[in-house]
Amino acid sequence: MKIKSIKNLKNLAGKRVLLRSDFNVPLKNGEILEDYKIMRNLPTINFLLEQKCKIIVIAHLGNPKAGVFEEKFSLKPVAKYLDKKIKAKVRFVADTHGFAAGTAVMQMKSKEILFLENLRFYEGEKKNSAEFAKKLASLADVYVNDAFGTSHRADASVSAIKKYLPSYAGLLLENEVIHLEKIRKPKKPLVVIIGGAKLGTKIPLIKAFQKTAYRILVGGALANNFFAVHNYNIGRSLVDDESIKFARKLVKNHKNSNIVLPIDVMVGSKKNFWDAHAVPANKVGDKDYILDIGPKTVEFYKKYIFGAATVVWNGPMGMFEEKKFRHGTLSIARSMSLATDKKVFCVAGGGETVEALKMTKTTSHINWLSTGGGAMLSYLAGEKMPGLSEIVY
Ligand code: 3PG
Repeated sequence: MKIKSIKNLKNLAGKRVLLRSDFNVPLKNGEILEDYKIMRNLPTINFLLEQKCKIIVIAHLGNPKAGVFEEKFSLKPVAKYLDKKIKAKVRFVADTHGFAAGTAVMQMKSKEILFLENLRFYEGEKKNSAEFAKKLASLADVYVNDAFGTSHRADASVSAIKKYLPSYAGLLLENEVIHLEKIRKPKKPLVVIIGGAKLGTKIPLIKAFQKTAYRILVGGALANNFFAVHNYNIGRSLVDDESIKFARKLVKNHKNSNIVLPIDVMVGSKKNFWDAHAVPANKVGDKDYILDIGPKTVEFYKKYIFGAATVVWNGPMGMFEEKKFRHGTLSIARSMSLATDKKVFCVAGGGETVEALKMTKTTSHINWLSTGGGAMLSYLAGEKMPGLSEIVY
């Protein structure tokens, strides 16, 4: 595998670099609730500053309706935040490809950063429009994609743009690919831990790992669908018909499946006044909600984690935002960090997974924490990613 890395490009001084970053961070009233993605972009920005470039940052935030400006989707607070985290001055312009953006670029000096408005305010972005990409490209001399988290999307700023500028991978994107590749071609045994709610989004990944993983440990609401297929009572737990259908196919097509289900679960029946208690997975009551994996499952899963050479984790084991149901998820997070210390190669990714690891203050122990949720799943499933074509091959 080859990566066209920005590191290998000489003579960048004075060049206008169009830097696509993934700054899709949670915000409330203009306050950034989680800066993980922003901080992970700093090495590339600092590298480009050292090379004396003019940096034009492009990014998206949320999913606004194209053509409608809504303050809550503006990237202005993110630009302000970046300004505080970096030595160079960050100037924000509420435009992406029009006159204001063009004028601001013309006024730029080396080692300055211009931060443009949310690309998704414009229809051309999600439509992967050549015209929109051309306009963006006209602002710069070189294009750098550091938005790994968005690279599974066929959006103009990660896909079409590459036709119109010499294109390179940023340092974060390069590192994502290097680390995730070690999961695709793992040191064995490989153990995969999958949780969360929607099975549909994880099907390609499960299918890929049914071939290469030693075990796939399932948790979260995802497991409920498999329980339903095995005719276990799941009470009032979260399931959806489509996910059950997927689970049924997965079980049916693989007689000697490597999918491992929880042996016990934490349940509660009184919403908001949870009477949390553990029960065997096949003894869930009619009024129960399954909200975490149980303590026996935690011990059971830990053995797999410590016995592995490689572990990858995506998705919480339950409703970890509620104190009574976070033991499972946080135990997996702690086990991952302890396993890393014992030389197991551990990778985790996805917004909630990162949040859980942060709660245990163990993020720095894990070998790689991916900034991609959907993008990580897509990469690991071996799907073609529009944002990687031509720069990773
Ligand atoms: C993410 O936050 O996962 C990425 O920025 C992609 O965002 P999207 O799912 O809205 O395309």
